[in-house]
Amino acid sequence: MIYSRILGTGGYLPERVVTNADLEAFVDTTDAWIRERTGIERRHLVVDGETCCDLAERAARRALEAAGVSAQEVDLIIVATTTPDQYFPSTATILQRRLDIHGCPAFDVQAVCAGFVYALTIADKFVRTGSARRVLVVGAETFSRLLNWEDRGTCVLFGDGAGAVVLGAADEPGIIATSLHADGAYKEMLQVPGGIGNGDYANNRVTMKGNEVFRFAVMVLSKLVAETLAANDLTMADIDWFIPHQANLRIIQAITRKIRLPMERVVVTVADHANTSAASVPLALDQAVRDGRIQRGHLVLMEAIGGGFTWGSALVRY
Ligand code: UT7
Repeated sequence: MIYSRILGTGGYLPERVVTNADLEAFVDTTDAWIRERTGIERRHLVVDGETCCDLAERAARRALEAAGVSAQEVDLIIVATTTPDQYFPSTATILQRRLDIHGCPAFDVQAVCAGFVYALTIADKFVRTGSARRVLVVGAETFSRLLNWEDRGTCVLFGDGAGAVVLGAADEPGIIATSLHADGAYKEMLQVPGGIGNGDYANNRVTMKGNEVFRFAVMVLSKLVAETLAANDLTMADIDWFIPHQANLRIIQAITRKIRLPMERVVVTVADHANTSAASVPLALDQAVRDGRIQRGHLVLMEAIGGGFTWGSALVRY
């Protein structure tokens, strides 16, 4: 039996830090409102000329280094992103070129904030079926470029960044179980309405019904935890670390209350990163690995939800 395991993690945040107080200068908001309603204190934002692939490349190089894997050993590249550098080619192939890798498959996955969990799931299946042995999985976003900076209901919530893992073939399961879901019925709750396919070039900014997204996220993500635990004969006591999507501290707290998990076992980065979409889970994973909280052998439950809606979980023995 072939399994996949995480060999190394990496993350990268753009250097420019924008605090809530900085936002007060050009958005009708306050630091107090943002902290109280979301737990966000600051976010990292790209500067002009800095692209999604720039962030992806740095996170990928750090993950390769941590894994002790050379770029030449990578035989599949998957980038989860909603903010690709170009319409085409994919950011995965741009990253492939930057890393001087030639010939292996490379593609993007679009599941918005659930993108990394989707990409990790796909990568795991490639490894389990013997189709790949060393996979670079990246979640990277320049979400700030999708924001309407005059809509205070959305623009204060997001940040930019990238997180990556290198997955490798193994005899014992690292990725124990993954579970993916989607329901396109909820499109209008969270979307960028314009696009190249519908010819609407004007409406190219995020719109969101925040309250409804909040309720839906708490409902499906707490249900998914219960489902994942039951399907794997586990209880919450078995989980060393929970890494939820980092959109809003109140969403995370509401989920942990429902699943009865103490916050001490939850990795929270939302105060410093805000919502980095597909990068949120791998960035949080990388942070907790690098600061020593997550150690080899720990059982980690990750989950995320994004526009669509798309949502999913990954249960991982690190
Ligand atoms: O990856 C998934 C992506 N998205 C999410 O997960 C977001 C889910 N939703 C949320 O996080 C929350 O619903 C928000 C943070 C977006 C909003 O928090 P809320 O507690 O649901 O506030 P609200 O939308 O009910 O708005 C309350 C008030 C409104 O004023 P009135 O109508 O009561 O006078 C808003 O206009 O807060 C106002 N408001 C703001 N005030 C200051 C909304 N945004 C802001 C703001 N600064 N940035």
